[in-house]
Amino acid sequence: MSSYIEKIKSLNEKREAPPLAHIHNYGCQLNVTDGEKLKGLLLNMGYGITEIPEQADLVIFNTCAVRENAEERVFGNLGFLKQYKEKNKEMIICVCGCMTEQSCIVEKIKSSYKYVDIVFGTNAFDKFPSYVYNIIEGQKRVYDTSGPDETIHEGLTQVRSCKFKASVPIMYGCNNFCTYCIVPYVRGRERSRAPKLILDEVRSLVNDGCKEIMLLGQNVNSYGNDLDKDINFPWLLRQINAIEGDFIIRFMSSHPKDASKELIDAIYECEKVGKHLHLPVQSGNDDVLNRMNRKYTAQKYLEIISYAREKMPDFSFSSDILIGFPNETEEEFLDTLDIVKKVRYSNIYSFIYSKRTGTKAALIDDKITYEEKQGRMQRLLDLQREITTEDYKKLVGKKLRVLVEANSKGGEGTLTGKSSEFVIVNFDGDSSLIGTFVNVEVTGARNWAVDGKICTT
Ligand code: SAH
Ligand code: SF4
Ligand code: F3S
Repeated sequence: MSSYIEKIKSLNEKREAPPLAHIHNYGCQLNVTDGEKLKGLLLNMGYGITEIPEQADLVIFNTCAVRENAEERVFGNLGFLKQYKEKNKEMIICVCGCMTEQSCIVEKIKSSYKYVDIVFGTNAFDKFPSYVYNIIEGQKRVYDTSGPDETIHEGLTQVRSCKFKASVPIMYGCNNFCTYCIVPYVRGRERSRAPKLILDEVRSLVNDGCKEIMLLGQNVNSYGNDLDKDINFPWLLRQINAIEGDFIIRFMSSHPKDASKELIDAIYECEKVGKHLHLPVQSGNDDVLNRMNRKYTAQKYLEIISYAREKMPDFSFSSDILIGFPNETEEEFLDTLDIVKKVRYSNIYSFIYSKRTGTKAALIDDKITYEEKQGRMQRLLDLQREITTEDYKKLVGKKLRVLVEANSKGGEGTLTGKSSEFVIVNFDGDSSLIGTFVNVEVTGARNWAVDGKICTT
């Protein structure tokens, strides 16, 4: 790999100005970290980075396959690139990520988007430089369709956009095969990174001033299943918690089937771990959960919630909810509204089911109309807004420790950040506080956030 990086670098150094590259990430946080690694490779090859695709000599679309609309956006934007390439004939266009692990997508690009130069999957970091070199040398288009590469590529430079918040993948792939989901097909089987490498990475980020570490995996609770028997996710949390420094640890996603009391105990005992859990329930109905192959019941899910809240009364939960799984009935949907009322999430991410070719659910003849699903989505969002607003009102008068993330919508002099419980807090303060922890007293509640004022204790 490094010989190709050097070759491209010396070609690029001969140019008057460094050529520019543009990366567009379409997917989840893991997809973004892949994009950060590709950015690292591009910088090593002598490219500069631009946010404007029209100006770029090399464009990467790092795609997501989880829902149809993500795919449609990619094809729409590829259409624009055609015009740019007509103006800059040397522009190299690359498409990678989860979409390109599906043969039907690769075929579509081959036949309808002939100006795309390189197609490679989710994990071809070692091969990417050679593909770029071959195109620069005038060879024909590259289609890497070797399937999800399950190697863990360590030692790549990850160019992160934020100095005080960093994502750290701890595992890759998914073994769960929820019947609606394409991820296991495009990301391959679960594999865990070595704990030492994760701990070294976190230590170095914290030494560089990072204040929030987000541990990533499709199901972090499976961490270590492929490693020594004493190594599991709660163990990893405790190890990271022991690293010296003032920082907050977050993680996602947690599959409820593996969310154990041991996990909750670790969160409780580790003072650096945020008191919030993203625990995607998807549905509140046992039959739908079974059809989804989720391997838990509403009852088991609620037991974990109660266990956490008994130990930590202010603990907050968020969730992903899938609306309109094929043939979900009104009664089944009502069970989802019911579990939302019981859990009282602080936030939900809800998605209308999107048929993914290759998954089991795609074979079901779905009788429920899209309009009906949209109606359900609206009812769910209305309910959730009510819950969040009511619960946020109860926070008035409380003091929260907040990591300041940015200026809020009011601009200079106004700030926004998140508390340990993942509550969005807006308050007045100087921009120099961005990237630090402050104590804030909650003074008022809005729909999705609270207002506050900085206090000294
Ligand atoms: N591994 C994570 C989820 C990753 S995908 C987990 O299990 O929690 C993020 C979310 O996208 C899922 O939780 C699900 O709600 C949604 N999703 C997955 N497949 C989908 C599909 N076919 N249509 C609509 N939403 C989907
Ligand atoms: Fe998809 Fe289920 Fe795996 Fe999450 S756990 S990535 S929803 S198959
Ligand atoms: Fe999308 Fe792939 Fe992530 S399908 S959600 S980018 S793992």
